[in-house]
Amino acid sequence: MTELSSSKSGPLIGNITVPGDKSISHRSLIMAVLAIGESTISGLLEGEDVLGTTDALKALGAEIYKDDNGMWHVFGVGIGGLKEPATPLFMGNSGTGVRLMMGLVATHPITVTFTGDDSLAKRPMQRVTVPLAEFGASFQSNGQGTLPITVKGTQMPLSINYRLPVASAQVKSAIMLAALNTPGQTTVIEKIPTRDHSERIFKYFGVDIKQNNEQIIVTGHSELKAKNMTVPADSSSAAFLVVAALITEGSDIVMKNIGINEARTGLFKTLIDMGGNISFENKRTECGEEVADIHVQYSKLTGIIVPKERAPSMIDEYPVLCAAAVCAAGETVMRGIEELRVKESDRIAVMVQGLESCGVKVTEHPDGMTVRPSSINGGVTIKTHLDHRIAMSFLVLGLISEKPITIDDATVIETSFPGFANLLNGIGANIC
Ligand code: S3P
Repeated sequence: MTELSSSKSGPLIGNITVPGDKSISHRSLIMAVLAIGESTISGLLEGEDVLGTTDALKALGAEIYKDDNGMWHVFGVGIGGLKEPATPLFMGNSGTGVRLMMGLVATHPITVTFTGDDSLAKRPMQRVTVPLAEFGASFQSNGQGTLPITVKGTQMPLSINYRLPVASAQVKSAIMLAALNTPGQTTVIEKIPTRDHSERIFKYFGVDIKQNNEQIIVTGHSELKAKNMTVPADSSSAAFLVVAALITEGSDIVMKNIGINEARTGLFKTLIDMGGNISFENKRTECGEEVADIHVQYSKLTGIIVPKERAPSMIDEYPVLCAAAVCAAGETVMRGIEELRVKESDRIAVMVQGLESCGVKVTEHPDGMTVRPSSINGGVTIKTHLDHRIAMSFLVLGLISEKPITIDDATVIETSFPGFANLLNGIGANIC
């Protein structure tokens, strides 16, 4: 564990680039492995979560390497071409990595054991094992249905029709990936829309996929074409810098090539509703995803009631929204977000505890929290519970705190945002 402290900082000024989108990076690698021939990926996130997926895919028989120009090359094995790995696959801290990979192997006739770190080992996996069992896969785990889990993939998958009981892009995507090696049509019914990167990348790689109101219909055994992918920068990583600039007086920053897929931009909408000066420039579409440069300036914010229906489009951003809420005039109410309790940590409980210890007025609800404007005393060490977004949120809050805020473990930031502190320090932050 390495501690890191963030202290009162001058204005944040500059043009910066944040690392590649985590969700799209996992999916790009997996799709390229299922295509036949060589695909290339530029802008891949080289954080631990995605590198874990890369290693897992290599263990399943794919050849993947990075060239001297930073471009990743993937030689796909084709749908149905995965081989049984010699050892268990360690998926680190990554819920997306493990759930997508479970979907992938469930309809291949191989047996694979998945393990993870202490955070991942606490997270619920029945949400994927239940639908994947309907395809014919079987699972061995402890009584709680948590990792380690051994997946015995089925040789004769049956297509399914599944209504998602929880709004989760990971579960939806696990089913869609299992459908690729399943004859016939698999239908996923999604009442509350979640991020649609899988739908977009399926189309980009040539999968026969139809969307019809709440239904996503995937026809199995399409032949995937090898592709050249460009991964946009991660809006969820940009979120920390957006909030940092909004709350640090005098700030003015531009971030390039950020993914602005509608299903991911709930935080930006919320911050604009709160009075944030955020604009999108140079909008374009790349590899099926909308991208823009984002310009953010320090702003006076006002608290709002965040619409509950916005939750899926900003699910990872509530921790950092708390840092903005502390500075806003009036309270900010965040409800309908009980899913936060089963992320890398219980993000509601951990944020509330950490904020209270910094002197912030906050109320915990079963399904969320209310943050009131407060002066931030700081002078504390926050327990991050192996959660990268908790770690970065408190470092952002430290930029405007009376005394420094220290996090107990900065290493966890490497899962999604390598170079986070250096990037912020490069534009005027004081993190060491
Ligand atoms: C993700 C989906 C979300 C999100 C996670 C990434 C994805 O999880 O929190 O960081 O890439 O599909 P859920 O599907 O559990 O909501």
